[in-house]
Amino acid sequence: MRTEVGIIGAGPAGLLLARLLHRAGVSCVVLESRDRAYTEQRQRAGMLEQGTVDVLRAAGAGERLNREALEHDGIELRFDRRSHRLDFPALTGGRSVWIYAQTEIVKDLIGLQLKDGPPLVFGAEAVAVTGLDGRLPQVHYRDSAGEHTLTCDYIAGCDGHHGITGSALPASVARTFERTYPYAWLGVLADAPPSCEVLVYAHSPRGFALHSMRSPTVSRLYLQVPADTDVSAWPDDRIWDELDARFAVDGDWSLTRGPITSKSVLPMRSSVTEPMRHGRLLLAGDAAHIVPPTGAKGLNLAVADVVVLAEALADWKDSGSTALLDAYSDTCLRRVWRAEHFSHFMTTTLHTDPGQSPFDSRLQLAQLDRVTTSRHAAAELADNYAGLPISRQG
Ligand code: FAD
Ligand code: DHB
Repeated sequence: MRTEVGIIGAGPAGLLLARLLHRAGVSCVVLESRDRAYTEQRQRAGMLEQGTVDVLRAAGAGERLNREALEHDGIELRFDRRSHRLDFPALTGGRSVWIYAQTEIVKDLIGLQLKDGPPLVFGAEAVAVTGLDGRLPQVHYRDSAGEHTLTCDYIAGCDGHHGITGSALPASVARTFERTYPYAWLGVLADAPPSCEVLVYAHSPRGFALHSMRSPTVSRLYLQVPADTDVSAWPDDRIWDELDARFAVDGDWSLTRGPITSKSVLPMRSSVTEPMRHGRLLLAGDAAHIVPPTGAKGLNLAVADVVVLAEALADWKDSGSTALLDAYSDTCLRRVWRAEHFSHFMTTTLHTDPGQSPFDSRLQLAQLDRVTTSRHAAAELADNYAGLPISRQG
């Protein structure tokens, strides 16, 4: 098979890139190792920046999002048994955030692609990329029918953190920067109406908790747990009791319980691989960088990467110039490192480290007091959370 851009991975990065390239007249093929049902049902992110919503709408993927996404005008920070609301539009000059699950974005993009988009091959596992320094790189992949080769002009590595492209850069040029955290998240979905209007991020002496949602009838909740946690240690009642304890505030508030329909443990890690381009291979999304989920940046960063990448590939096709492709890594890494910093800040300010001293806890509370009482500090948090505009190159 021959195409201009071989895309490995049908997560949000690969699918959106395919959509943007298709609209720009650049041919591509998407290879995805899993089947369609698995890809569409994997529970992950839920919070979209305004810029991400704008990109999805402009790409023609906004029809259901426009009907079903929930617009939020801020978040709530909870600590010391008190609630503090941050008003994003007031703090950012009008930007909001949106709740629309990654599962739904993936379903929408797959639906569009199968209807009128470029080829999308499920059950096709890329096993190697070769010829990155030449003019015709190749993706070697296998499916139920055997082994195949996709020859292209460029390869987009959109295969996530456990894919093959992140480690395909030669050791002489690649550098990976990493931080691990001594805790994880236990994430649950519950058939219970959300107990809050906006997302609640709670700091408590028992550890962090987050109340999010998927719809007016489904809540998404997260608890900080030790890194080696086994979900079987968390029967439903224990989860609800722990959530109650961590969200407790003085005054009138209670958490609505309901049947828990899914439970999983999510590791927390920060990682960036530089550069995001080597020869004919361009990395995007989790293949190049991951953030701990506390800042809700992973999916939004993946979208920002592919906007820059699609524009660079369209410019190469139109003009033959590689100037934007040459700038791709530097352009993206600036935003990536801002998001890494913010995600690390949110994580370390809100979680309780197992080795944390009472002094460290007081510092966290001082920081939380600052972001909820100083307009400057609140505006800095809101600006990062609501997301920098998804600027194009330059
Ligand atoms: P992915 O979504 O990982 O997609 C990569 C795709 O490539 C997958 O479909 C995979 O099957 C495919 N693939 C992998 N290897 C190959 C191969 N060799 N050949 C072909 N295909 C391959 N972010 C938040 O903001 N909030 C959250 O709550 C949150 N929760 C998360 C939970 C988990 C368990 C994980 C892993 C991530 C979570 N994230 C969260 C981060 C967010 O979901 C990611 O940033 C986002 O999925 C990145 O999209 P992507 O397309 O780059 O990668
Ligand atoms: C969700 C996940 C996050 O990591 C976050 O910071 C906010 C919301 C969610 O799954 O809804």
